[in-house]
This record gives sequence, C-alpha cells and structure tokens, in this order.
Amino acid sequence: MINYLGTPLLKTDRLVLRKIELSDAQSVFDHWLSDDRVMDNLIKGAHKSVLETIERVNEIVSKYDSQDFCYWGIELKASGELIGAIDLFNFDSMTENCEVGYSIGYKWWNNGYGTEALRAVIQFGFLHMNIHKISAAHNTDNPASGKIMRKVGMVQEGTFKHMIRNAKNHYKDCAVYGLLHEDYIKNAN
Ligand SMILES: CC(C)(COP(=O)(O)OP(=O)(O)OC[C@H]1O[C@@H](n2cnc3c(N)ncnc32)[C@H](O)[C@@H]1OP(=O)(O)O)[C@@H](O)C(=O)NCCC(=O)NCCS
Repeated sequence: MINYLGTPLLKTDRLVLRKIELSDAQSVFDHWLSDDRVMDNLIKGAHKSVLETIERVNEIVSKYDSQDFCYWGIELKASGELIGAIDLFNFDSMTENCEVGYSIGYKWWNNGYGTEALRAVIQFGFLHMNIHKISAAHNTDNPASGKIMRKVGMVQEGTFKHMIRNAKNHYKDCAVYGLLHEDYIKNAN
C-alpha cells in the first residue's frame, strides 16, 4: 500500500524542498510560470498575469491538507530563492505507481539543481512512500529533461508520437521513462 505522507520538508546538499506558500506567488510567476522557455515544455502554457499564478498557488496550498498531495517548491539553501517546483502525482492505488513532474527557472538551468531535486523526490517516493514505479514523460525536443531522468536511474521505455498537444497547439512526441522500486533498491546497493 502507498504510505502517503503529504509534502514533508526534504533537504539535499544545496536545496530545501518545501511546501509552496501563498507569499511565493510572485516568485513562482517571475521565476518560471510566466516564462515560455520553461513552460513551452509542459502541457499548460505560461501564465500571462500574476493573478493566474495566485489562483494556482491558492489551489496548491489548499491541497496540502491531503496526505496524498506531494508538491514541493525548490529553494536554494545559499540564497533562499525559490527556483522551481517538483511533484509526485497520479497515484494509482491498484498499481501503487505514480508520476513525477518538475520545473526549474531558466536562470538556474544546467547547475545540477533539477537532478538534485529529482533524486531526492525519487528517494522519498521509494524509501518512504513505498511507491512501486515512478514514471515521467518529456517532449523529445526537450532533451535536458531526459538527461536528468537518466542521471537518477530512470530508463526510457519508448516514444509516443503526438502524445500531447501543448498550449501553443503543437503536437509533441514524448519519450516515456520509468523506474521500478526493485531496480532502484538494486542499483542503490
Ligand atoms: C528539465 C529541467 C528541470 C532540468 O533542470 P536543470 O536544473 O537544468 O537540470 P540539471 O542541471 O540537473 O541537468 C541538466 C542536464 O541536461 C543537459 N542538457 C541541457 N541542455 C541539453 C540539450 N539541449 N541536450 C542534451 N542535454 C542537455 C545538461 O548538460 C545537464 O546534464 P549534465 O549535468 O550531464 O551536463 C529544466 O531544464 C526545466 O525546468 N525545463 C523546463 C520544464 C521541463 O522541461 N519540465 C519537465 C517536463 S518533462
């Protein structure tokens, strides 16, 4: 059975993964949600106004009461800046599988933060929540996302043509990755 634990504080060498707060809305908007360079890689497009982001942050904050809501803001220990977000979602009680999603603000790309956050959340999912399999998919024109999945041990299982249509009405082929609990444990030893 999945052991739901909500969204506890997680710490890595350089990051604090913590709940998003209402007061974060402007940073969320400025740092990634309003930025096409980040959001073009996701299904939902960039926010045009901070009011949209306030609504989204309100929605996120209201869900923290549920133990099966796992959505972390990614904060830099050194500066206290909120640089992105990562979540576990689509929990399936039949299989005990779920998915992972993440975004890092453009200014902070290619510093290893995405890999560090993903590694921490995968570890939490397998070692503390007892997830059976964690999956993710990235657009094939977004290879950096595939790179971080491989760096944390996820394995590409296939490619799906036109798996999504993004906010700009473009169909995207997606590479689908997964990691089984048993393989995570095997590779950790
Ligand atoms: C995907 C994303 C989270 C990566 O975050 P990040 O903090 O830059 O990740 P890291 O720095 O840990 O690693 C990025 C890796 O991708 C590599 N990379 C970057 N651009 C690349 C490209 N065009 N082709 C191949 N590899 C690339 C980097 O070299 C790095 O690998 P390395 O450490 O071996 O050199 C970030 O780019 C992002 O938020 N993108 C937009 C949102 C998104 O794509 N979300 C995921 C949807 S599936």
